Amino acid sequence: MGLRDLLKEKAEKHGGLRGLAKEALRRAGGSGAEATSPPTSPSSSPPSPAEPVQAVAPVSPPAPVSAPAPVKPKDDGPFVKVARSEQVPEGKAGTYVIGEDAIAVFRVKGKLFAIDQTCVHEDGPLGEGKLEGHVVSCPYHDWRYDVRDGRCLSATDRAVACFAVKEEGGAILIGRKVSESSGERGGAHDDGLQVIVKDIGKI
Ligand code: FES
Repeated sequence: MGLRDLLKEKAEKHGGLRGLAKEALRRAGGSGAEATSPPTSPSSSPPSPAEPVQAVAPVSPPAPVSAPAPVKPKDDGPFVKVARSEQVPEGKAGTYVIGEDAIAVFRVKGKLFAIDQTCVHEDGPLGEGKLEGHVVSCPYHDWRYDVRDGRCLSATDRAVACFAVKEEGGAILIGRKVSESSGERGGAHDDGLQVIVKDIGKI
C-alpha cells in the first residue's frame, strides 16, 4: 500500500481529513477538542435568603444640660462687728451704717434680725419704728414690715433688703446682704393722704 492509500484509509477512519488532522493534533499534545466548560453543577442548597437587617437602636437625644446650680457662698460674711450684744435688748432695735447701707437690727425672742433701715414708702427710718412681735411699723406713716424676711405688709409687692447677722463673743456682727430692697417709692398713706414726691421741695 502506498502512502497515498494509507492516508486515505486513516482519513476515512477519522471521518475525513479534518478529523485526521484533529487526531494528529491530539496526539501531539494539543487539545484538538473544542474547549468545553465543566458543567455547572446545580447548587446543592437553595440560595440563602438575605440576612435580616438588624434593627439599629434609636439614638437617644443628648441629656438636657441642667442649669448650673447657683453658687452658694460658704458663709454670709464678711461680718462686721457693730455693737455689743446688750446694746440691742429684747424687743428693741439699733441702727448701723456699713458702707452705703443703713441697717436696722432687731431682737425678737432672743434672736437678731437685720433689715434695710429705709422704708420703701418715703424712706422713713425703720430702726426707729414700733416693734410688735416680728413686725415693725414705720414711724412716718405706719407701713409695716416683717423683720424676718423684709416683706412689706402694707404694700405686698415691696420689700426691704435683709442682711446676715450673728452674735459672737458678746458682740453683734452684720454680714452680707442676702436679699434686695424693691426700688419703687411712694404710695398711699394709711390715713388716706398722699404725698406727690416731685412737689416735696416746694412744701
Ligand atoms: S415713709 Fe415709711 S410709711 Fe411712709
